[in-house]
Amino acid sequence: MASFREIIANKPYVVSAFLLLGLLTLSSKTTGAESIGVCYGRVANNLPPDPEVISLYQANGITRMRIFDPNPPTLQALKGSNIELIVGVRNQDIQSLGNDVAAATAWVQNNVLNFFPDVKFRYIAVGNEIKPQDAEAKYVLAAMINIKIAIASANLQDQIKVSTAIDMSLLGSSYPPSTGSFSDAASSYINPIIAFLASNGSPFLANVYPYFSYIGDTKDISLGYALFAAPGVTVQDGAFGYTNLFAAAVDALYSALEKAGGSSVEIVVSETGWPSEGGEGATVENASTYYKNLIDSVKGGTPKRRGKPVETYLFAMFDENQKGPAEIERHFGLFSADKQPKYQIRFNEKNKVLANMCTRIKSSHLVYWSILFSSFYMFKSNLLT
Ligand SMILES: *[C@@H]1O[C@H](CO)[C@@H](O)[C@H](O)[C@H]1NC(C)=O
Repeated sequence: MASFREIIANKPYVVSAFLLLGLLTLSSKTTGAESIGVCYGRVANNLPPDPEVISLYQANGITRMRIFDPNPPTLQALKGSNIELIVGVRNQDIQSLGNDVAAATAWVQNNVLNFFPDVKFRYIAVGNEIKPQDAEAKYVLAAMINIKIAIASANLQDQIKVSTAIDMSLLGSSYPPSTGSFSDAASSYINPIIAFLASNGSPFLANVYPYFSYIGDTKDISLGYALFAAPGVTVQDGAFGYTNLFAAAVDALYSALEKAGGSSVEIVVSETGWPSEGGEGATVENASTYYKNLIDSVKGGTPKRRGKPVETYLFAMFDENQKGPAEIERHFGLFSADKQPKYQIRFNEKNKVLANMCTRIKSSHLVYWSILFSSFYMFKSNLLT
């Protein structure tokens, strides 16, 4: 039997084939494994221009973004960036998109197809934090269906998933997590939406803020539990031990989804964050602890979905000086408006180091050079002559 050394000597193309495989594995790892994105909110009058914002994402290895409306300059600046995007339908547009499939088709044409494939759309979030009693609520599912029809006519239904972003107020019960269920008032609104998500393989987008739970009940909720800094298990729920409130909230949502016929639906946390000033517990130190521990924690999933990273979008990229009225709303940024980082955060390991390399060596070039390399060796070993 030929030794490995002989194989290498006689068939160097085998080596280059392995090299190609290795490089492709490496490049797919750096584009697929990370689970952290950052919301880019623009309720401010002092933010940098969009191209600078995109550069700031890239310089920090942030490979996913959520935007709340299809702002043309942002979409323009995202072209060719490789940043994966959640784009929102504004709440005030839901009714017209739900009433009129032509309006949904135009929305998809103007805001998605006109930028595809240069912008990497991941999800379309039809509305943000619509509650069952809101006037828009009765149009959300219809708008989702109409957008999905438009996406499907472009044959993109496997790449771009349609969903809506909810908040925790839809839950009637969340403690302990296994009792999680939607309130009676929310069920008639959300159950048909969950059926839509399940049948389309779309995720459930949820905005999850342990900060607000904590300040709403500082007697029963310890700061450590909210900051992923509790000394151990704080809530034992059957077989599952919870050391932090974030995981407990996500699993309460999983319990609610299961009871509503959505066992197959994945949860994506479309917003989470901690303010740096403006209210109780809001300090740079506490926020820094929250973000660092959150990023570490979501990699390992939650007790109900152990080992499955929680795709999570931090809120938000910048402090937004026109938010409010509560002071606290203006201090959720990871960066100040002048692009200075408020925290020392490693968003996605490896990415920062590899980001520059990988955007330069586009995978098409990688394949090109590897084939050239392989051919050269095959030629050298007289296989092509
Ligand atoms: C975090 O918040 C708590 C509760 O408000 C506060 O007492 C504490 O000083 C803060 N810790 C730091 C390190 O800022």
